[in-house]
Amino acid sequence: MSEELTSEVIADLLATAINAVAATSSLAELDHEASQVRAKDSALMLARRSLGTLSDIDARKAAGALLNEAMSVFGEAVDARRAALEISERASQLEADRLDLTEVVVGDLRVPVGRGHAHLVTQTRASLEAVFVAMGFTVTEGPEVETDWYNFEALNLPPGHPARDMYDTMYLDIGEPETVLLRTHTSPMQIHLLEQAVAEGTLPVHAAMAGRCYRLDTPDARHLPVFHQIEGLVIDRNITFADLAGVIETFTAAYFGPDIHARLRPAYFPFTEPSAEFEITCTICRGVGCRTCSRTGWIELGGCGMVDPAVFAAVGIDPVEWSGFAFGFGIDRCAQMRHQIADMRSLIENDLRFMRQF
Ligand code: DAH
Repeated sequence: MSEELTSEVIADLLATAINAVAATSSLAELDHEASQVRAKDSALMLARRSLGTLSDIDARKAAGALLNEAMSVFGEAVDARRAALEISERASQLEADRLDLTEVVVGDLRVPVGRGHAHLVTQTRASLEAVFVAMGFTVTEGPEVETDWYNFEALNLPPGHPARDMYDTMYLDIGEPETVLLRTHTSPMQIHLLEQAVAEGTLPVHAAMAGRCYRLDTPDARHLPVFHQIEGLVIDRNITFADLAGVIETFTAAYFGPDIHARLRPAYFPFTEPSAEFEITCTICRGVGCRTCSRTGWIELGGCGMVDPAVFAAVGIDPVEWSGFAFGFGIDRCAQMRHQIADMRSLIENDLRFMRQF
């Protein structure tokens, strides 16, 4: 047998074992191959066992040394392959776990994802502000969390005033009970603006203020508990109700187009005297009467009137020198009327089929 266990034979056995290890493509496969080579009945192990049958001592020693070296070279090859496989298995694990946060996949993966656009209410707010800027108003905004003073009291709605029932108010659990609230309308901005104008001596004021408002209302075709209003305030010398009516008429034609009409109907708001409700032709039925307008043919957009002397008193403005008008109306309602949206709840349902139309 001695002639069979030459260095070439051992080199061949080693090469075969190393090739098998190099061909593995996973750690599990590598473990399997390595244990095959080290198994009792493998070619290398059978060769080692056959050493004992060699009668020539020197030849046995030489072959034994070669086999030991072959086994240690084989061990190094296994370790090297293991290190390489560990790196590539970790890399593919990371690749599989990767979250691509740059991409929101909607529906069919083959359909390119659009960039989206501003919500209809945001677009409407911007258009309304643009109309008022064109009419010479400045545009500002203010806090959604208000104190009772700004939302009610300074607007001539003292505690216990029956007109407070018009506003189902959401109070915040801050300070004394029922002193801090989510504004129920944008009218408190009138007080902020007038206080500032008095402090800085910057009267007259021609301003529009838009923003989010809150009321404890059940959503229906015309109401949302979180909605948007735009408030207008003009304080100057010799301002009359005719100026107010002119601004409302001009705004309606500019925003809704010439075939939509506005009407003012007597109403009551504690912060204006006289007060009026501002209605426009229902754009869904064009005045015929439908579910959305409760069959009246008209849709109420908001309220308006001449600023009440009590409001001037609250902020320290002389009602003899100054007079003015104010108005406030729903931005969501404007979006609804401009785009003939039968049910306002569509604005908050986030149905892409609806949203994509605008
Ligand atoms: N703030 C009132 C509301 O939300 C609407 C309103 C009425 C605003 C008359 C005004 C106004 O500025 O003068 O019900």
